[in-house]
Amino acid sequence: MSMNNYFIYTYGCQMNVHESEKIAGILQSRGFTPCQNVEEADVIVLNTCCVRETAETKVYGHLGRIKSKKKHGAVIAVCGCMTQQPSAAERLVKRCPFVNIAIGTFNQPRIGDYIDKFIQTGTRIVEVWSSEKDGDCSESALPVRSSGINAWVNIMYGCNNFCTYCIVPYVRGRERCRPIDDIVADVDNLVSQGYKQITLLGQNVNSYRYADKTFPDLLKLLESDTKYRLKFMTSHPKDISPEIAQIMSESKVLSHSLHLPVQAGSNRILQAMNRHYTREEYMEKISAFRALIPDIGLSSDVMVGFPTETEEDFLQTLDLVERVKYNNLFMFIYSQRSGTPADAMPQLDYETKQKRIDRLIKFQFEISKQLAQNTVGRIAEVLVSDKDGDKCYGKSETDAAISFNSESAKIGDFVRVKIVSGKNANLTGEVV
Ligand code: SAH
Ligand code: SF4
Ligand code: F3S
Repeated sequence: MSMNNYFIYTYGCQMNVHESEKIAGILQSRGFTPCQNVEEADVIVLNTCCVRETAETKVYGHLGRIKSKKKHGAVIAVCGCMTQQPSAAERLVKRCPFVNIAIGTFNQPRIGDYIDKFIQTGTRIVEVWSSEKDGDCSESALPVRSSGINAWVNIMYGCNNFCTYCIVPYVRGRERCRPIDDIVADVDNLVSQGYKQITLLGQNVNSYRYADKTFPDLLKLLESDTKYRLKFMTSHPKDISPEIAQIMSESKVLSHSLHLPVQAGSNRILQAMNRHYTREEYMEKISAFRALIPDIGLSSDVMVGFPTETEEDFLQTLDLVERVKYNNLFMFIYSQRSGTPADAMPQLDYETKQKRIDRLIKFQFEISKQLAQNTVGRIAEVLVSDKDGDKCYGKSETDAAISFNSESAKIGDFVRVKIVSGKNANLTGEVV
């Protein structure tokens, strides 16, 4: 029997999306080809997330459907953060007897070997490592990039911060930084191949360090006369320095946008989260960026319903959100993660959490609407990432989503447009 087609499901963050590009690279180097429908796949990979309970529920839901749709004899492999949690892989294979391979994040680079072994022996494989065996983080498989003009480049793996709600350090291990020369070579290559937007990835990019080189050093090395857009995520408020604002304001390539997750607006909650900054320090950093880059687009992650959060604490979050005025806000209900310190703290009831998220979403909606209206009349430079007929879609230098009509503009072009309308954060422009 020939096993040729593969299909990958990806859950979770940008990093996981890029991990899936690497898995695709591994599979293609072994002669597999991608297919459009899971029904045609000989190998089905689920690259999972476990940052919130909903992420895990989604995986189980999909597995149920895949079971009835898949080709007879198709191999199902589950990898990623969810299966890296202690006992999660065991639980998964018990609940889903049709899953053939369950591995974690650390042995994922060997997924090709596991698939070969299963095809040869027909014996189910459940193997989760607690760290990388070789301990280095040079990248071997060439990723198969799937995101058009955008390319992601890892600068580091793992996290050392142990925010009390977060599972990531447990499933991704401690911080490991890639050699700076490898990163610069990757970016140079991608830009010369024609990629127009590069996003540097890490759980806390501001703590990047390789030998005596730091994150600001890396950003300076990535300056270029070739036109491309450079972004990075995620930044941690405790580590981002005013130097980054300076570099951004002088750079020819850096996007005027910053994703700076605040999580909460109450100092008591921030301390219980182990975030190592106060609301005042956070807002000072925001002001420093705004002073040097007045048009900067700001985004953030905010959580409601962290253990012991009172109405007063929640109002502090609303107050911070109102003062900062984010262009884009990712809002989450706190989700209990087994093994994290917050899991053992006194929890809020479901209804309180649900009501708070609803209030926050409404609150931010009004802010986004107002900000969108304020941009009408401004000139923006849009990097076209999609085109449908004459309708072009893309992002501005401040990371605002803008659509406009043009016959001649192509995907990958930078086009100057004037913003003519801003309804509910959807901006429409006209070519100038
Ligand atoms: N390293 C990044 C992002 C990590 S996960 C950072 O430090 O911000 C992305 C977002 O998921 C977090 O910013 C946080 O808002 C959210 N998150 C993490 N753990 C969560 C949990 N247990 N419940 C709800 N949201 C969570
Ligand atoms: Fe999780 Fe905090 Fe690390 Fe981000 S910085 S990945 S929220 S522990
Ligand atoms: Fe990302 Fe989810 Fe893992 S957010 S790092 S895929 S737990």
